[in-house]
Amino acid sequence: MKKVSVCFVCLGNICRSPTAEAVMRHLVGQAGLAERIDVDSAGTGDWHLGEAPDERAQRAGQRRGYGLAPLRARQIGADDFERFDLVVAMDDANVTALQNVAPTATRDKIRLLMEFAPQRNERVVTDPYFGGEAGFEAVLDQCEAACTGLLAALRTQFTV
Ligand code: 4NP
Repeated sequence: MKKVSVCFVCLGNICRSPTAEAVMRHLVGQAGLAERIDVDSAGTGDWHLGEAPDERAQRAGQRRGYGLAPLRARQIGADDFERFDLVVAMDDANVTALQNVAPTATRDKIRLLMEFAPQRNERVVTDPYFGGEAGFEAVLDQCEAACTGLLAALRTQFTV
């Protein structure tokens, strides 16, 4: 049985990428594909290692039925580029940092999340950390749209 794996990446792994992970897990579960699509997240930085997601991200997720509480921040490493089929970044700074970590032959695994929601015409998921609650709602809106598109893209790989 073919399987695919995706790792969402932001700077701290406490706001955007755990939100994307929780949304994607929810969609994958709803689609009955939990056995086939492996979902994780990580940060490019190391400031928040081992921490639970930001409380504002947890609260915003909870309001829409996504559970972020069990997630813990970790830092992306070169070995993740062997383990995952896709490494999905939130913004251009994430992409640059990932290109510096990825073994050369695996750099084509790096993508921007909003590529999977072309209808929204947004290149990046903006960092909500220094803003208010509305920023976390915007992150959720973007993650819901893009993870829906990403799931549709991944599904096309499952012909058997
Ligand atoms: P994230 O947000 O990259 O979406 O997890 C941030 C979290 C922490 C910091 C910056 C962005 N920080 O500067 O500590």
